[in-house]
Amino acid sequence: MENTLLDWSPISWRAKEVAQQADYPDEGHLQTVLDTIRQQPPLVTSWEIQALRKQLREAAAGKRFLLQGGDCAESFEDCEEEIIKNRLKILLQMSVVLIYGLKMPVVRVGRFAGQYAKPRSKSMETRNGVSLPSYRGDNINAREFTPEARIPDPERLIKAYHFSAIQLNFVRSLADGNFADIHNIDYWSLGFAQQSPHIESYQAIISKIREALRFAETVADYPIGGLNQVDFYTSHEALHLPYEEAFTREVPRSDSIYNLSTHFPWIGKRTLFEGSAHIEYMRGIGNPIGIKVGADMAPSDLVSLLRNLNPLNDPGRLAIITRMGVAKIESALPGLIDAAQRAGLNALWCCDPMHGNTETASGGIKTRRFDNILAELEAAIDIHTGMKSILGGVHFELTGEDVTECVGGASDVGEADLNLRYRSTVDPRLNAHQSLEMALRIAQKYQTLEQL
Ligand code: PEP
Ligand code: CO
Repeated sequence: MENTLLDWSPISWRAKEVAQQADYPDEGHLQTVLDTIRQQPPLVTSWEIQALRKQLREAAAGKRFLLQGGDCAESFEDCEEEIIKNRLKILLQMSVVLIYGLKMPVVRVGRFAGQYAKPRSKSMETRNGVSLPSYRGDNINAREFTPEARIPDPERLIKAYHFSAIQLNFVRSLADGNFADIHNIDYWSLGFAQQSPHIESYQAIISKIREALRFAETVADYPIGGLNQVDFYTSHEALHLPYEEAFTREVPRSDSIYNLSTHFPWIGKRTLFEGSAHIEYMRGIGNPIGIKVGADMAPSDLVSLLRNLNPLNDPGRLAIITRMGVAKIESALPGLIDAAQRAGLNALWCCDPMHGNTETASGGIKTRRFDNILAELEAAIDIHTGMKSILGGVHFELTGEDVTECVGGASDVGEADLNLRYRSTVDPRLNAHQSLEMALRIAQKYQTLEQL
């Protein structure tokens, strides 16, 4: 287990270079808030974390597939019943398509219940000659462009904790009851999605699943159990290290120290540099962790990182989430896979086809093209397959709402439509139609490979 590392402690990160942190005007206030959080119950448990780690091990071995998705940046105001339900519905729909198409179980991980802190490329934002500190996520400051709103407020950490708990409570109840039962697959339909161009392909899969279920239950002569609940795990970028530290706890009868604010924290691209406090913090916790790897990562640096973050070489410990962009994946990914293979280092390879494909549309608005996202994913599948490596999962920014943030897909959001329903506070997300279509296209891609 990771905490046998003698030179690590939950605070050893403090001696390292801490990038992308909030600059609180009142340090004492921050400490009071953190002391409060430290006393309060955790959001997740170590046995859930261990169960996820086991599932990720299976994904690394090609026996399971990881579907990770949710908002780029959660906002407090989106902690709404419909929004949460719709996000679960689209993740359930996508996972059913993937289970069917890839013929393997799926592990569902949300970018939710804690995805509040955002790294920014610029620490200041300038509008009409006025410069203010950048918005860094709802747990730090507010989005409004006023000097007051942009001051980091430690009370927001308590709010983030409470909103995470509220959301998690609802997710757990839904995942454990009738809602998640595959016999009630109709509950997962989204009202507005009935008009989707790909609804027929989805319905065809659903009918086949129903038929198979009926057949199996007829043969067995009783309803098949265990189908009425699903697992949803949580993940977020572990960016706000003082907050993460407050949830870093020893667990009775366990030999690890866990981060109990989420099951699956990851290190973002901007904090994945040599000497980073984020790497130091993550190296000692018992959770599975992700690293976001861009096209500029040198293969030898990846090898050092894998050795540092996964000294026991456990395939379920570390997810390499590549986010290269369709233009760079062909030149960048093979060298990284090759280096890990030669060094005999295990990891779960995932593809985040969103973050390397962000562009600015003509109106100055940030967007991503469905075709580029899909093309990066297909390239990742081909490259891994060609190198006898395994792509074990995908990572999306998505929502169950009918937003217009990414362009393209069969329902054809054009650049001119972006202003209609653009709600993301940071990066553009696939809407519900585009998300389902993406899952269908991944399933198709795997089926084509199987026939080769
Ligand atoms: C993100 O996942 O929202 C993000 C900022 O990604 P990356 O660190 O890969 O840029
Ligand atoms: Co993002």
